[in-house]
Amino acid sequence: MSNNPTQSAQWKELVLQHAATQSDSIEGYFKSDHKRAERFSLSIDGLLYDFSKTQITEKTRDLLLNLAHWANIPNAIDALFKGEEVNSTENKAALHTKLRSENVDLSEIETLSEKIRAGQFLGATGKPINHIIHIGLGGSDLGPRLVYDALLEIKHPSLDFSFLSNADGTDINRILKKSDPETTLFIIVSKSFTTHETLMNAKTAQDWLHANIQGDKNILAHHFIGVTAYKEKAIDYGLSAANIITFDDNVNGRFSVWSTVGLSLCIAFGIKEFKDFLSGASAMDMHFKNAPLDKNIPCLMALVDIWHRNFNDYRSKAILPYAEELKKFPSYLRQLEMESNGKSIDLDGQHIHSYQTSPIVFGEVGTNSQHSFFQLLHQGTNRVPCEFIGAITPNHEYAAHHIALLNNMLAQSQALMQGKESAEPHRRFAGNRPSTTLLLNKIDAFHLGMLIALYEHKVYVQSVIWNINCFDQFGVELGKEMALKISQQDLAGADGSTTRLHRIIKDKQGIK
Ligand code: F6P
Repeated sequence: MSNNPTQSAQWKELVLQHAATQSDSIEGYFKSDHKRAERFSLSIDGLLYDFSKTQITEKTRDLLLNLAHWANIPNAIDALFKGEEVNSTENKAALHTKLRSENVDLSEIETLSEKIRAGQFLGATGKPINHIIHIGLGGSDLGPRLVYDALLEIKHPSLDFSFLSNADGTDINRILKKSDPETTLFIIVSKSFTTHETLMNAKTAQDWLHANIQGDKNILAHHFIGVTAYKEKAIDYGLSAANIITFDDNVNGRFSVWSTVGLSLCIAFGIKEFKDFLSGASAMDMHFKNAPLDKNIPCLMALVDIWHRNFNDYRSKAILPYAEELKKFPSYLRQLEMESNGKSIDLDGQHIHSYQTSPIVFGEVGTNSQHSFFQLLHQGTNRVPCEFIGAITPNHEYAAHHIALLNNMLAQSQALMQGKESAEPHRRFAGNRPSTTLLLNKIDAFHLGMLIALYEHKVYVQSVIWNINCFDQFGVELGKEMALKISQQDLAGADGSTTRLHRIIKDKQGIK
């Protein structure tokens, strides 16, 4: 049997189903089925997924579920939780779900973070640490950044946090300018401990400490902590073993926020909140593992996305959190979805030419996004499925703001679907544009854990159906190799444009 999904009878039936329903009115579905909203919604403890405002009928849903069974999704779920080598191109497991299982040992980060929170972790000159700079990139940055921002209201009041990722000197310059070397702790997070940008930022931070703290006071021991899967690399870098915290190599970078990579979060919010975050993810894990496919939210979400990407040829997807706490969620999901499923070689090593994989994911918080790119969502030539995310209970006391915010969210999904007739063509809205809505009870550590785990599992289900590995990222390597060559002034084999641009930059900088 071929692993190419387009060769399956299930896929072919979906192609026919698409042809049969493509001119259906989504609004019409509601008119003929008063229970549609209930029928096309799923919920678990504090999280509701409504996919009723899509062009999916009961038959379409059943056919999509048949496709999931064809791809053996229940086996794939089992394999993930059993720790089998689901990352087959790297011969590794993907153990992120183990990090939120009940018996996980958090004592090392708990002890360290409690010490810092209590003001007992001292810098080289004896002053308590009160500013934590988290240095990392990609998966070693985006998860902690997202969660930090989301839970900001409950941060430790006398600790400050900065996140430093970019190789651009402006990033580190801005952060160091507002930092006091004597009370700053750098947490260097890198799974590989070889990421050039991260190590360059760490080196500049180290030089800055040495330049600004007088005397040989074993500065690194007081101001540097490394978090990595490769302890020996951090030791080679110059950290002492006592200042290195490890995590399992079988945890992939963009799935690693649950590991010691979340140390900064544990310091910012305390161990109880961090445990709540893991419990939320664990609740989603249990749902994903145990719910039948037709009630399984990550699975249904993946199928809705596959319907949009593969059968409707929608090329992008908008993530629209109507929650300021989730401001960083679109950029987090850009990596999770596009680094995971932006692939064109399948698990059998064959070039994929008969179907599409990850759409382009973008987004912004509502209501800002409404006044930025919603024009295109409503009237552009591209159809962009929209994913609205909102929370019922706010984390503030300004009730009127929250009501207005959620009203806007509801209005936008309604407007996308219903459209508007007008005698003037420019004022006409075609409507029939699909959207889904995720409604959380509240944005707290627990529900945030649930939400992130939901997307992790959704991405995994899609990858299984697409017959690709969502846990590798070889596509980022080539640019890194070329950057290294250019930094060594090696432009052999470079094209005319790159060589000329390099020359212009060097000439203007006065470098021979
Ligand atoms: O961008 C490529 C990548 O390997 C990501 O997958 C990863 O999250 C990031 O770089 C950082 O890697 P590391 O944690 O090893 O520094």
